[in-house]
Amino acid sequence: MKIKNALGLFDGISCGQVALKRAEINYDTYYASEINKYALKITQKHFPNTIQLGDVKQWKEWDLQDIDLLMGGSPCQGFSLAGLRLNFDDPRSKLFFDFVAVLKHYKPKYFLFENVVMNKDIQDAISKELGVEPILINSGLVSAQSRDRLYWTNIPNIQQPPKKEINLKDIIETSLLISEVRGGMLKEYFKHDEGKISPRGLCHIGTADLNGFDSIKRVYHPDGKSPTLTTNGSGNSESKISTSETTWRKLTPLECERLQTLPDKYTEGVSNTQRYNSIGNGWTVDVISHIFRNIK
Ligand SMILES: C[S@@+](CC[C@H](N)C(=O)[O-])C[C@H]1O[C@@H](n2cnc3c(N)ncnc32)[C@H](O)[C@@H]1O
Repeated sequence: MKIKNALGLFDGISCGQVALKRAEINYDTYYASEINKYALKITQKHFPNTIQLGDVKQWKEWDLQDIDLLMGGSPCQGFSLAGLRLNFDDPRSKLFFDFVAVLKHYKPKYFLFENVVMNKDIQDAISKELGVEPILINSGLVSAQSRDRLYWTNIPNIQQPPKKEINLKDIIETSLLISEVRGGMLKEYFKHDEGKISPRGLCHIGTADLNGFDSIKRVYHPDGKSPTLTTNGSGNSESKISTSETTWRKLTPLECERLQTLPDKYTEGVSNTQRYNSIGNGWTVDVISHIFRNIK
């Protein structure tokens, strides 16, 4: 399959380009709009031909031709913080409207907009702007990470991806040196049995010896899935697994790449903190390539 040019807004580490490759969709030029220097470094390492356009707010200065596919997931803080407001005056939701403006300007054959699950009123406002209803897909269908995301697209006939039975035990590194991973002792260990797997496939098995919010203390058994990766890959917010009935460790950046179905070591070359951040910000590649396969 071949399209002319593609444009990724809020392109991050260009998971969209990895997905195009995986879906065997070729393109002449990939334009990207991204401002984070670590994300840019990772993208250019893998896709040196990417034309980086910088800040999306400058889109009126771009003069692009033949955009067949527009994709993007604007930073989600805007939607979660903006309450019921979604308008041009709110800087937090403004970036979404830049996506809409670019969509209206370039009129690509296909578009894909991704975001977090949000307040229904805001979701409906986005659907109205984009002219389509979203499909909710949990990445757990294709990976060992439970991650609910909404996808608005005019690519036709998108169904749920076929379910693969993948859990943390299938993707974890087995020969790690103790010095390579941060971990600690479990303050509590719950007995593990089948009944402990949640409907989302998670097996919350214990409590880490950490201070802070309950959410950062949760330790999961490798027989289940990881909770959603987040961008705060510091301050102990990374997903944690039990390594015995008394110990836990954090997932490594490589394991997090596997949870997003990225190629192994994709984000190597920046600090671990930046790796965790960019992976948590990214897309689950196999979900996106599943959607792209319907481009005809
Ligand atoms: C939720 S992430 C999207 C990640 C991306 N889908 C990927 O594959 O990695 C949002 C991205 O928007 C970027 N961003 C924020 N403000 C921007 C702006 N004004 N112009 C372009 N990108 C921006 C952030 O740096 C971040 O990488």
